[in-house]
Order: sequence, then structure tokens, then C-alpha cells
Amino acid sequence: MTPLDDFRYGPLDPLPPPVHKPRADMNFRAIKGMNDILPGEVERWQQFERAFRDTVELFGYREIRTPIVEPTSLFVRSIGEATDIVEKEMYSFTHHDDALTLRPEGTAGAVRAFVEHHIDQREPVTRWYYLGPMFRGERPARGRYRQFYQVGCELMGDPGPASDAEMIDMLVRFFQRLGIGQLEVVVNSLGGPATRPRYKQALVEHLTPRASQLSEDSQRRLTTNPLRILDSKDERDIAAIAGAPSVIDLLDDEDRAHWQKILTYLERLGTPYRADPQLVRGLDYYSRTLFEVRSSAGLVGAQNALGGGGRYDGLAAEIGGPATPSIGFALGIERILLAMGDQTAAPRPIVMIAPIGERASSEALVLAREIRDLGVAVDVDTRGTSLRAMLRRANALGAPLCVVIGDSEVDAAQVQLKDLAGHNQSVVARADAATQVASLLKAASAGGSG
Ligand code: HAM
Repeated sequence: MTPLDDFRYGPLDPLPPPVHKPRADMNFRAIKGMNDILPGEVERWQQFERAFRDTVELFGYREIRTPIVEPTSLFVRSIGEATDIVEKEMYSFTHHDDALTLRPEGTAGAVRAFVEHHIDQREPVTRWYYLGPMFRGERPARGRYRQFYQVGCELMGDPGPASDAEMIDMLVRFFQRLGIGQLEVVVNSLGGPATRPRYKQALVEHLTPRASQLSEDSQRRLTTNPLRILDSKDERDIAAIAGAPSVIDLLDDEDRAHWQKILTYLERLGTPYRADPQLVRGLDYYSRTLFEVRSSAGLVGAQNALGGGGRYDGLAAEIGGPATPSIGFALGIERILLAMGDQTAAPRPIVMIAPIGERASSEALVLAREIRDLGVAVDVDTRGTSLRAMLRRANALGAPLCVVIGDSEVDAAQVQLKDLAGHNQSVVARADAATQVASLLKAASAGGSG
């Protein structure tokens, strides 16, 4: 009798629960505001990233990967000296004699790459997307981290307004596809290079007599970056802003025509939106169109801006490239996953092979390769431990199937298949094992997802 013959599948001991106590003897922790994303959680990220790629590739966007570190001056120049990001949130350091910064966002690097590689000479319109970590030294809270992840799109070479409307519609449809409810899509126009200074001046004229009522931050911004006052959540600022001139009233004819056409396209597409003349965003490179998508669904909490973007027609020229009308957006992955709530994503189904003894172990490695060649994931338990321990692990991994091989199976050119979900077992010829396992697993996965 081999140990297999007297094995009867029964309830197995559960794995010990995870330990959440801090380890007293360990001195290392992830940096505050920077998180590990462990298996179990990472599947939701992958699912989100797949959905994003799927969506934007349908619109002709192609992936670009740029360095995480760029010259500090690139961000100062593009995001703007008087912005919160540049003033207080960047992770900047000097390496040898170079002033470098961990990217706080993806647009500056994408435009730098566009200009550096003369992309405009290869194609009149460029559609790029990216995903990856960004770094901002903000005060950590739910939905606000110091290392966070964005997906984003940049469309360069098209002055709009049809491309503006298409981008906003793509975004809204993407959120709808994810099943995120309570969506609010806010749009605005800041006008072009001529409007912005006029609007700033009108705002300063409105706020200067009320300066003493403003928060301390906004009193400072009144001279450095008055538009940001519109973004303030401070009640004193909100009161002072009431009755301020609307940027829409100050648009010149071209800006106004651009803005109105966007709205016409959005109406035609049936894209829900709310025009809000007070929408401003924390980056100085914007001109004309601005938009933001918010939701208070799921576990979002106070950080309800899931994504935002806008037109940045002057940025390429600002960093030394050709004048290139452009528009883009970025979404915060963590916030979107919070908005999606507690949904779980199933890990890829996996088959466990449990070999007992050395001969079985080498057979298991060969069989695992055969099964993987059929596109099925396999984990061989190579620890040389007891069958019970291996089956416990198979259960913990959620493996629907375990292949058990002992000496007698090797001698008889057979394997045992244990259907862990159905609690039954069968003996299969070794020669047929890989195809059998693959078809059983595919049937089990199809049953599970249907
Ligand atoms: P942003 O509004 O600064 O725009 O960031 C876009 C999104 O990233 C936010 O709506 C939010 O979901 C997420 N996010 C920002 N900061 C954090 C944080 N500290 N923790 C977690 N999530 C965060 C940009 O970054 C522009 N580059 C968007 C763009 C692209 N405009 C034109 N092209």
C-alpha cells in the first residue's frame, strides 16, 4: 500500500490566519504613504489595468514607458513654480551634480519624450497611454498616498474640439464599464493664452478688497497663483469667491467657439457632464479645456477626484519643442479601486502537483512542463513534505485539481487526479495526464465563471 491508497479526502486544517501585529523584532516598514500590493489584492489591479488598456487601445492609444526620475527643472517648468506639487510635494534629490525628481505625474515626461524623439516629424497626431507609479509628498489619507499609481492618456497634435469631446466620452464610458456609480463629470474652459491673464486679473480685482477674509494660504496665492483660490475648500475662501466673475464670460471668440463645440459634441454623444466655471486644476500647463471625474461610490471617502485632465496647448513649446496642441488625462488607480468597493477578482486558476518521493518529484517537474505548455498554470510542491501538507496548500491556493504522484504511480505509469472541489478522485494514464488535467481545469474554470 502506498500512502496514496489510504488517503481519503476530508476537511483540511485551515491555514493560520495572517498576523497583523507589528513584529517587535523588525525595524523596517514600508515608508508612510507607500503601500505594498500583495497577491490577493493585486488581481484587482491587473483586472483594472487590462480594462484600461482594452478601452484606450480601441481608441488608437499606444503605450509609452518613460523614466520614473526626470530632471527637476522639467517639472518646475511644466507643472509650474507656484503649484502645490512643485512648492511642497516633490521628492527631489541631487545625484552627483544633477537635480532630479521622482515624477509626480506623467504628462511632463511624456511631452519631454515626444519632443526629444521628434515624434511630430513621424506622425501628425500621437496617442499615447501610460501606467505606473507617481510620487507626491502629500499628507497620507484614504485615497491619498505618497506613492500612487496612475493610468493616463496624452493626445498630441490635435487642437480639438472633437478630440476633447471624444476623450471625455471615452473616460465616462470607461467608468461606466467598470460599474462605478454616482459619477460626476465636471468640465470647464480656462481659455487660451490671452484669456488666462484677463481672468486672473478679474479674479484678483474681485478678491483684493476681500483679501482679509481669505484663508492664510489664499492670501498668499492672491499674488502667486490666484486661480488656485477657486479650488479651496476653506469656507472663508468660498465666501469670498461668491460673485466672482465667471471665466466663461471672459473667453475670447475662438475660445468660446471651441468650448461651445465641445458641449455640442458631448450632447450629441449623450455624455453626461456638468459645466462648472470654478473648476481649476493644480497644474499650470492647462489652457482651454479642463475636466475632472468624481464619484463618492464605494469606499472613496473625501478624495473623490478619480481622474482629471485638460488641454495643454503650450507645453511642448514651453520645454523647447514645436507648438503642439495637446490634451490628456490621468486617473488614480487606488481611488478607482476604492470606488469599485469590495469586489474581489479571482486569481488565475492553478493546478497543484503533489509528488511523494524523489522519483515522483522528477516526474512531477516533467508533467508540470507538459501542462504549462497547454496554457494551464501549475504549482509543483517541491518541499518533500507530507501529502496532507501538500493538499492543505492546494486548498489554500484554491486549486480545483491536485495531481498526486507516488512511487506506485511512477511504476504503473499513472497519476491520481484529485478533484478538490468535487471531493473525488480518479486514476489516469501518465501519457494522458497533461491533456486530461488541462481539459478538466478549463471545464472547472468555465463552470466557475459562468
Ligand atoms: P492630477 O489631477 O494631479 O492630474 O492627478 C490625476 C489623478 O491622480 C487624480 O484625479 C487622482 O485620482 C490621482 N492622484 C493624484 N494625487 C494622488 C495621491 N496623492 N494619491 C492618490 N491618487 C492621487 C495629473 O496628474 C495630470 N498629469 C493629468 C493630465 C494628463 N493632464 C493632462 N494630461
